[in-house]
Amino acid sequence: MNKLLKIVSMFAVIALVATSVMAAEGGNPRKGKHLYKKTCKTCHGPDGDGGELTPMSKTQAQWDRFFKKGKHDAAAWGDLSEKDLKDVQQFLYDHAADSPQPQTCG
Ligand code: HEC
Repeated sequence: MNKLLKIVSMFAVIALVATSVMAAEGGNPRKGKHLYKKTCKTCHGPDGDGGELTPMSKTQAQWDRFFKKGKHDAAAWGDLSEKDLKDVQQFLYDHAADSPQPQTCG
């Protein structure tokens, strides 16, 4: 019984640690990349109205500030949910100019 309790509590600790790491990561960058290509690139591709934009166009702090302010014309976000936007933010942030893996293409 005692041993079983130990095992159970060990799993509980592992689960807690795993969720807190995920929470710190926030969005899902893989999904974000897909959404970015599908939604943002229509206006932010090489010949888009919004000017070309890639993850490398900004620093991590600049991306965070941009999404925090949420000043973008709301219509342009299309029907992206809060969660979708978080994923896009995560993708851009992970590949920002000052990130370990800057990316020029979305
Ligand atoms: C319907 C077209 C359209 C879509 C879709 C769109 N944008 Fe934009 N975006 C614009 C236009 C036009 C501007 C420039 C005018 C303005 O600031 O509103 C702009 C401006 C911006 C800027 C500021 C540019 C700068 O140099 O600081 C950022 C950042 C940005 N968009 C990010 C995004 C992201 C991220 C997405 C996808 C989630 C997105 N946009 C989707 C049209 C669009």
